[in-house]
Order: sequence, then structure tokens, then C-alpha cells
Amino acid sequence: MLSLSTLLMAGLAASGATATPVEVARRATPTVYLAGDSTMAKTGGKLMGWGEYLPKYVTVPVVNKAMSGRSARSYTNEGRFTEIEKLVQRDDIVIIEFGHNDGGSPNSASDNGRSDCPGTANEVCKSGKTGETVYTFNHYVEAAARSYIAKGAKVIVSSQTPNNLWETGTFQPAPSRFVGYAALAGKNVGSGGSFLDHFQAVAAMFKKLGKDKTNALYPSDHTHTSPAGADLVAQAFVQAVSRDYNGTTPLKGFLKSPVPSVF
Ligand SMILES: *[C@@H]1O[C@H](CO)[C@@H](O)[C@H](O)[C@H]1NC(C)=O
Repeated sequence: MLSLSTLLMAGLAASGATATPVEVARRATPTVYLAGDSTMAKTGGKLMGWGEYLPKYVTVPVVNKAMSGRSARSYTNEGRFTEIEKLVQRDDIVIIEFGHNDGGSPNSASDNGRSDCPGTANEVCKSGKTGETVYTFNHYVEAAARSYIAKGAKVIVSSQTPNNLWETGTFQPAPSRFVGYAALAGKNVGSGGSFLDHFQAVAAMFKKLGKDKTNALYPSDHTHTSPAGADLVAQAFVQAVSRDYNGTTPLKGFLKSPVPSVF
């Protein structure tokens, strides 16, 4: 393949070296798209999702498509991953972060439309409520990731944020199963995919902050943070990017300086 400079030099030579080169390079600035749940979304009142604070720490535009209450399954079924697929262009970056609403079993008559089929591969379930076929977390996340990679975009599968790990009074950092599932998804999609352990980055930050400061970031329940908490959770994400935690992600070249240090 001809490089851009080769093309430009050929163009200049042909035109007598006075013409202004036409910009045929790829866009200089990728867009970052966010797919996730309430912990990432623009919520309101006393609460906020961390995606709203990511623009403070990166040099590229961020489009926050996270939506409260969604799981990998419902985000898929509502066409939200597909909406992002239509928008992404080569070199854009999509961050996918689910898990908070993915638990439970779809088999029961009260299936909430969010629980994924248990497992990490091609397992299928049948919704006890609607009869629809339900797939695994990995099926939904990897299908979305592959659709973006096929368009030349890059994907960061990020593990879900922890709940308040100081809730019981002592620090309890046990990750949910979806943290491991996210790591597997980042690996399974191959080139163009990556994994960021947001859970462990935020857990390390909460450990450092201690009980009282962490509790203060959770004004109404153990899942959703205040705006101040969301800002810190975004900072933990960015610091994790800068430290390749766990692995190099495509956002690394687009961090504002200085990178926050919260864990
Ligand atoms: C990511 O790296 C951290 C630090 O080494 C480690 O504690 C954590 O278990 C890793 N995450 C996964 C999902 O392997």
C-alpha cells in the first residue's frame, strides 16, 4: 500500500511542486463512543454516570450513548449497539461497559428482559416470559465489538464499576463474574479489541480513599455515585488507560496531561 507521503510526493512532482497537497489522510481525531448503563450514563439529580466526566481527561470528542437500566442483552435488543455501529468510522474508539443489570436468569416467568443467559460462549436460554432466545453476555458484547472492528474502529471492553466496596464497613473487593467475562470478551474479539479492568482500578481507588470518603460518593444506594464520584470513577478509568491496566488500549494516545493519579 502507498503511504500518504508517497502519494503527496507523487502529487507534488506531477504538479510541478507548487500545488497545495490535498488532505487525503484519515481523520486526525477519532470519536469515542460509550455504550453502557446508568453508572456511565448522563443521569441526574444527586447522581451521575462517569461517562459525562471522560471529556475532562481526553483530547478527543466523547459521545455518551450509555443508558440507565440496560444490560448487554437489552442494549442489543433495543438496537443501541447497532445505532453506534452506524455512526462509527475508521479509528473511532468504542468503550463497552456492562454488568450491573446483566445478572439473574432469563428462564423465569418474571424475566426482566435484561438477564443474560449464564455462561461465556454459545449457550442459549429461552425467556420464561416472552419465549425469545437469550444469549450470553459474551455473545452480545463480542458481537457488538466485532461489528465495530469490521468498520475499522477499535474497542475497549471495560469491566463494570464496583458497587460501594466499603458498604459493610470493611473493604470487600470481590469482583462480579461479569468482570472476568469482560476480560474474556476483550481477548476473544482479537485484533482491534482490548480490555480495561475498570472494576479493579476503581476498587484500588476506593481502598486508597477509605471508608468515609467512599461512602460519601454514594448518596442514594450502593451502585450509583454522585457527580463527584463519577468524576473520580472517570479518573480511575483514565489512569488505568495510562497504565495499560490490563493491556494497551487505543485511548492511550489521547489523554490530557497530567493524567490523574487516584489509585
Ligand atoms: C488486572 O490486573 C490487576 C493488577 O495486576 C489484577 O489484580 C486483576 O486481577 C486483573 N484483571 C483481570 C480481569 O485479570
